[in-house]
Amino acid sequence: MNHRLFTSGFGFASLKKIPKSLRISTMKSNFKDPEHPWTFSKLMVMFFLLISISYLLYSLKFITSSYTCNPNPHTTQHHQSDSVAIFPSGLTPNLREKTNLSHIVFGIAASAKLWNQRKDYIKLWWRPAQMRGIVWLDEPVEIDPEDEEVLPQFKISSDTSKFKYKNAKGNRSAIRISRIVSETLRLGMEGVRWFVMGDDDTVFVAENLVKVLQKYDHNQFYYIGSSSESHLQNIYFSYNMAYGGGGFAISYPLAKALEKMQDRCIQRYSSLYGSDDRIQACMAELGVPLTKERGFHQYDVHGDLFGLLAAHPVAPLVSLHHLDIVDPIFPKVSQVEALQRLKVPMKLDPAALMQQSICYDKNRSWTISVSWGYAVQIFRSTFSAREMEMPSRTFLNWYKRADYTSYAFNTRPVSRHICQTPFVYYLSYALYNPFKNETASEYVRTTPNLDCKWKMADPSKVERVEVYKKPDPHLWDKSPRRNCCRIVPTKKKGTLVVNVGLCEENEIVE
Ligand SMILES: *[C@@H]1O[C@H](CO)[C@@H](O)[C@H](O)[C@H]1NC(C)=O
Ligand SMILES: *[C@@H]1O[C@H](CO)[C@@H](O)[C@H](O)[C@H]1NC(C)=O
Ligand SMILES: *[C@@H]1O[C@H](CO)[C@@H](O)[C@H](O)[C@H]1NC(C)=O
Ligand SMILES: *[C@@H]1O[C@H](CO)[C@@H](O)[C@H](O)[C@H]1NC(C)=O
Repeated sequence: MNHRLFTSGFGFASLKKIPKSLRISTMKSNFKDPEHPWTFSKLMVMFFLLISISYLLYSLKFITSSYTCNPNPHTTQHHQSDSVAIFPSGLTPNLREKTNLSHIVFGIAASAKLWNQRKDYIKLWWRPAQMRGIVWLDEPVEIDPEDEEVLPQFKISSDTSKFKYKNAKGNRSAIRISRIVSETLRLGMEGVRWFVMGDDDTVFVAENLVKVLQKYDHNQFYYIGSSSESHLQNIYFSYNMAYGGGGFAISYPLAKALEKMQDRCIQRYSSLYGSDDRIQACMAELGVPLTKERGFHQYDVHGDLFGLLAAHPVAPLVSLHHLDIVDPIFPKVSQVEALQRLKVPMKLDPAALMQQSICYDKNRSWTISVSWGYAVQIFRSTFSAREMEMPSRTFLNWYKRADYTSYAFNTRPVSRHICQTPFVYYLSYALYNPFKNETASEYVRTTPNLDCKWKMADPSKVERVEVYKKPDPHLWDKSPRRNCCRIVPTKKKGTLVVNVGLCEENEIVE
């Protein structure tokens, strides 16, 4: 993004040093003025200026390409972050190597007490051969030999007893956890672009996390994450805070700046509750705002996440949190088993995971909503896209006495009318057909038949839904747009067949 900015910035700076009479703006006005025709000497100056500007541009290009060729990304990084003032350092990020998993270091906040149940969540997403990161614990834990192979490295956080903690409701482990960024940075790992923080009950979708971080220049200061679902939480903490459980990313130079001041900063905010509000307080001092990415999910809710997952925003799904608190995301299994099932579509087409598409079966007057890799819903009658993209309130507020006015986004009530209750089909399996470059996923019905008296086609005859879709690794390289779905005629009994893919020209949900 910076190539243009950089060149014009550079040109401007150098023009400043040129005597006022020779600035381009002056010459432009001469050009417009018929009373001052162009003299030979002025033309010479113009010519000279043009040459020097082209030379500047040329040398600039040379600099840019020599950066791209630098074989050692780590030195590049240091070099650049140290010279921020002179070179707006993020010369075109797309001319350099794209961010991948190897550039990310995870810092996972864990406690010895909950370790045995929480480690299963980490195992769900951790890839020992590809990822780097540390689980930071308060006390040593016994580690099963078989876990050692499949989990990140462990470290015990350093002592924080010298820090003040004055919040009556919280736990002073917050200080230890907020220092994980700094403690991880001090390990001095090579080639780090991003530190990504999460809790021991956070599950990340690695490909989507990488996709999100690729959009940003890691040589600049970035603090990326998302707010809470609960309006009240955001009022008590801050709308400018990245919620720690949903996970957040801090670029390398920002982590460096934070590390230099964090211990002093923490002392100034001894009355805060948690670790993430302490981070935010320091970010505010550094003047770095939260960059919101809607795929990080704190999930400060209770009950059934279905409404939220079935109407996921048009943004890559990056994380899930509070998995111990909410119901398992698939019925009749444990939360870990449910997430294990989700790993299959996550592997086949991570960009599409939970992405909603909406279409109509016009012959039968049904509305179909697909949340790819998770669930399909069939509704009798026609609902508009703006209704369908609103999460239905299958979940409860974090503050149990708060109602729907306390969410930080729009929701719709769960329909009370028997005939408007959706038929829900949950993912049962998914596979990839390499000959067609297409995934097939099957969803089966779990909701019971309700006695609806409407004289119209009855979805209760549909027992399963098949969804066909081409994997689309470049979905998020384009401007965000919901995929389209189409009902495919079929002779299979009790089956609805749906095709999901990019919308074609003039294809809209109407
Ligand atoms: C990640 O990027 C580095 C260079 O920055 C490169 O050496 C490495 O091969 C890449 N890894 C993957 C898996 O693409
Ligand atoms: C604070 O949290 C730790 C670890 O989660 C726990 O062992 C400890 O009992 C808690 N302290 C208080 C005062 O609740
Ligand atoms: C499959 O199709 C997608 C979308 O058209 C395309 O981006 C991808 O490269 C294809 N993959 C293969 C293996 O052909
Ligand atoms: C809708 O009905 C028409 C006419 O009977 C039929 O040709 C078409 O295939 C049907 N569409 C679907 C999606 O079943």
